Amino acid sequence: MRLVLLGPPGAGKGTQASVIVREYNIPHISTGDIFRDNIKRGTELGKKAKEYMDKGLLVPDDLVVSIVRDRIAEADCKGGFLLDGFPRTVSQGEALDEELERISLGLDKVINIDVEKEILLQRAMGRRVCRDCGATYHVEFSPPKEEGICDTCNGELFQREDDKVETVEQRIKVYNEQTEPLIDYYTRKGLILNVDGSKSIDEIFEKISQSLQG
Ligand code: AP5
Ligand code: MG
Repeated sequence: MRLVLLGPPGAGKGTQASVIVREYNIPHISTGDIFRDNIKRGTELGKKAKEYMDKGLLVPDDLVVSIVRDRIAEADCKGGFLLDGFPRTVSQGEALDEELERISLGLDKVINIDVEKEILLQRAMGRRVCRDCGATYHVEFSPPKEEGICDTCNGELFQREDDKVETVEQRIKVYNEQTEPLIDYYTRKGLILNVDGSKSIDEIFEKISQSLQG
């Protein structure tokens, strides 16, 4: 199964991704996670990406596309993959198509999680992430058993730097301008699966998995 998860910042892409990849046993490829990992390790790529991410802007296409191209060529992607947060511009979508065409493959579905702005702000502002294993929580909607501590690995929970209100607003604006056109792009290709992201985590997953089976 080769899948793409589309949706605005805070829509729940990462949350759904973690359940989908378990169900279908495919790798979860999040370009945001790849950049954050590079920032943590202090690589050149991380330094460049941070300049854009801190401002709520997209990292330039040329930096992103080559990373994804290399990643999907790895052995664990032979049976499929889930792209979370890529593509984010029509030009990234075209680059992905070219690459998949080159290896005679195509996408199975593009899952579009649709959520209104007010909910996005609430979700992003309350999000907490485990420093060690990356598990995602929400202070109100999916709190850990003990405040500030990961249920799975006891790691420390922190708030992402780009989850400040001004940066989230900027990320939503960038999404509307640069990423939303991909909904049309994939609708024309007959690949889009629209999901109401205002529902509960379980209800959304149920809808996605029913549609993927049918
Ligand atoms: P990225 O990390 O991809 O961030 P994003 O797209 O802004 O999305 P988020 O990770 O913020 O939200 P999400 O949809 O994953 O929501 P989550 O599941 O965590 O990218 C970060 C930056 O990297 C970009 O701004 C850009 O600079 C750069 N970048 C990355 N990819 C790029 C690319 N391809 N090109 C260029 N630049 C790129 O959920 C949010 C919260 O809500 C959580 O607390 C969760 O617990 C809660 N929640 C989730 N679902 C529900 C629900 N149904 N009900 C209640 N609460 C819920
Ligand atoms: Mg995410």
